[in-house]
Amino acid sequence: MEDTIAIVMAAGKGTRMKSKKSKLVHQIYGKELVKRAVENARKAGIDDVIAVVGYQKEQIQAVLGDTVKYAIQEEMLGTGHAVMQAKKYLEGKEGKVVILSGDVPILRPTTIKALIEKSIERKEYATLLTAIYDNPSGYGRIIRDEGGNVKAIVEHKDATEMQKEIKEINAGIYCFDIKELLNALDSITSDNAQGEYYLTDVIKIMNDKGLKTGAVIVEDNTEILGVNDKIQLELLTRVLRLRINSEHMRNGVTIEDINTTYIYDDVEIGADTVIHPNTTIKSGVKIGEDCEIGPNAYIREGCDLANKVKIGSFVEIKKAKIAEGTKVPHLSYMGDCEIGAKTNIGCGTITCNYDGFNKSKTIIGDNSFIGSNTNLVAPVTLGNDTFVAAGSTITDDVPDYALAIARQRQINKEDWNKK
Ligand code: UD1
Ligand code: CA
Repeated sequence: MEDTIAIVMAAGKGTRMKSKKSKLVHQIYGKELVKRAVENARKAGIDDVIAVVGYQKEQIQAVLGDTVKYAIQEEMLGTGHAVMQAKKYLEGKEGKVVILSGDVPILRPTTIKALIEKSIERKEYATLLTAIYDNPSGYGRIIRDEGGNVKAIVEHKDATEMQKEIKEINAGIYCFDIKELLNALDSITSDNAQGEYYLTDVIKIMNDKGLKTGAVIVEDNTEILGVNDKIQLELLTRVLRLRINSEHMRNGVTIEDINTTYIYDDVEIGADTVIHPNTTIKSGVKIGEDCEIGPNAYIREGCDLANKVKIGSFVEIKKAKIAEGTKVPHLSYMGDCEIGAKTNIGCGTITCNYDGFNKSKTIIGDNSFIGSNTNLVAPVTLGNDTFVAAGSTITDDVPDYALAIARQRQINKEDWNKK
């Protein structure tokens, strides 16, 4: 779909967040709302993305950088006015433009694709994403004729009592023919209850010209949820959590508790791996088959675990590449490390990877046994088949097959405690 352009509306204020930060740079699973909206367009195959920014635009530009083009909306005069600010990027172009909202972050890329495909297939000049709500209050209502054709959108504040009974609502996501959108935008006015230039007025304008418009009803209503306050931010995080976790379970991963397992985007987990409760797995992590993770494990960025690896309770790992069959069963921090196969990392072992200035690496070979409460002061390399005595602080490399002991000898003072 190389001809399709996307516009992400991101000029809104978001006062209900009660935050110094722009609403759109708040995060769900470590990723800003506006970045999610842009990535959803990209994943739907749209490369050319324009962000309409205004209020706190510096914050949004800091997040999106030069991955998008910008249109500036100086004054918030409505959604139609917002799109008009992107006019210079649309003029002379043919094909479709998709309009998205920066605060609607968990829309599925497949839904965007379906909207574009239906629009092309049915030769519509405007195709809206709509939903059926039991409580449609506040939303724009979809006006259809007896034949079911979409004729207009009426905003809640402008609707008659009869129109307010309509349960089909405008999700605020659209696919337009570029040329006819520009033509229609030229004739919208702010003559309505809110004194705004409504993008939604374009539908009636097109119909008056005899241009066909239509709608796609979203199957999963949670996709079109927006974020206006921090309660909704948590709700959407929860919805995404259930969606991501369900997908892993469909692929054969066992998740004991869907509610307390926090798997970020783009994580790969092999079949028959078991994830115990209160586990967090950050974006980009790879976990093999037949692994056991948690409870209370924290798998941070850059981890790559082979098959049959065990990461137990109260274990944090970061940038750890761990080979098959290795176990880190309890109370450890393993960061910036490579660990071979069938090695056992004793309880309380930590990599001292940071000296206050630099991060250094720890390498441990295959078939090794690291005794409990060992400090591995990086950079340090332990060979294959090594054995480290419990309580050691390892500062020097350990050769293959060696036993390393690095602690004070114990002294027993006989009868000392009788005094
Ligand atoms: C809009 C739709 C409504 C729909 C609802 C779905 C219009 C007139 N109405 O209403 O039919 O049911 O979304 O949520 O479009 N924005 C700007 N600049 C502006 C105004 C808005 O960038 O001048 C952005 C907002 O930041 C937001 C999006 O556009 O991301 C939608 O604006 P919002 O004010 O939330 O529209 P609603 O009144 O909810
Ligand atoms: Ca809204």
